[in-house]
Amino acid sequence: MSKITAVASVCAVPVLAILVLIATSPNGVTPPHIPDGSFTGLIPPWPVFKVAVKINSFFATAARVTTPPDVAALELATAWWKSEVVYGLGYNGIFDLVASRSMTCRDVATELDLQEFVVCQYMEAGVQLHVMEKNDSSDSTVPTYSLTPVGDMYLKDNLHSFLMMINEETRDAWRGASTKVIKSGKVSGFQASFGGKDFWTYNNDHPEKGAQFDRAMKSLGGGPTGAMISDWKPSREDIMFCDIGGGLGHVLAHVLEHYPHMKGMVLDQPESAKRANEYLKERGLSNRAEAVGGSFFDPFPEKFSECDVYHIRYIIHDWPDAENVLLLKNIKESVASAPTNSKKSVAVVDQVIDTGASPAMEQSKRLMSINMVASNPYGSRERTVSEHEELFTAAGFSGAKDIKVTSLRTIQTLLEVEI
Ligand SMILES: C[S@@+](CC[C@H](N)C(=O)[O-])C[C@H]1O[C@@H](n2cnc3c(N)ncnc32)[C@H](O)[C@@H]1O
Repeated sequence: MSKITAVASVCAVPVLAILVLIATSPNGVTPPHIPDGSFTGLIPPWPVFKVAVKINSFFATAARVTTPPDVAALELATAWWKSEVVYGLGYNGIFDLVASRSMTCRDVATELDLQEFVVCQYMEAGVQLHVMEKNDSSDSTVPTYSLTPVGDMYLKDNLHSFLMMINEETRDAWRGASTKVIKSGKVSGFQASFGGKDFWTYNNDHPEKGAQFDRAMKSLGGGPTGAMISDWKPSREDIMFCDIGGGLGHVLAHVLEHYPHMKGMVLDQPESAKRANEYLKERGLSNRAEAVGGSFFDPFPEKFSECDVYHIRYIIHDWPDAENVLLLKNIKESVASAPTNSKKSVAVVDQVIDTGASPAMEQSKRLMSINMVASNPYGSRERTVSEHEELFTAAGFSGAKDIKVTSLRTIQTLLEVEI
């Protein structure tokens, strides 16, 4: 074989692979309006996403197989140290301060009234964890620190509340699951650790925690919502989009901003609905959106019969089967009382497991499943597509067998059932 033929054959393999990825990738959806700062703009085209995931998986596997077992075991045993460093930097306001200007660790300690020795240790660890970077300047012997793009993610207007929430009560809930629920069953890790109180009752008793949770959900939501909007095609552009358990109304707000002729409603617990109405007003959407306080385990308020899409994100995984069947039956009854027979659907977004996603993504979903065991009533978990199908069937949805599965460019999957 000549040199030219050999080079051509080697080059042909990646070119062919890229062509296959382009040919087998969905097109995605272009909504009528892309507002400034929309997360949809950050979602890479499908072929790019697929190539990036494959490259990432390749290097993750290479790192795993070249790490000796004793090192891997120690890394797993101490993995929480990393979260604790990031938590400490966020809890004490260090991320937000350093974001305002590059600073020495001594200045950070002075300004926040913290111990210089400990702050410097944490900030050095932050550099090793790639949330901070050190800027050595020639005119000073003392380095200053600034944030990396990952560190930026932990600022107050971004993932700060999530970082706090997941490392505070949720940490104790996990310990409850690992040490108590694993033997006793019956309750959540949260209940085992908080004197029998469930997560929502606890949050209602501690409104600042409820608000922290809502903010955490909102901050988590941008990417997955952008991904959903980029791959979900509504039946019409002027439908009524209802977000059941929609929290602050953050998903609804994103959707309505992309679809200027849509209207929408949120159904959530009374305290969350109050916060949602404030948020929707802030976003200038009060004329097209409202939040209603109530429980999705009770018959829905009459006006919800106007919904064309009943969107439920991160809700099914929060509950055992029986509660989910009740919720889905309530949706069905709400539809039954609708004045017209227009096309309606339920759209579930969750970390649906075993969808053939990359190993790293399936791993995240598995860990999220334990987060559900820790946080939510006994029996809550992430589910497979067929387990979702079973829930719809048990709730009497004749379309359950034709469940439409749409992979999203995140760890979530969209499941749609027509009613
Ligand atoms: C995991 S959060 C998901 C929030 C939102 N769907 C999202 O994707 O970010 C669960 C939501 O369910 C709401 N919720 C819990 N129990 C409820 C109930 N019985 N009725 C209505 N909403 C409820 C919570 O207040 C919270 O907003």
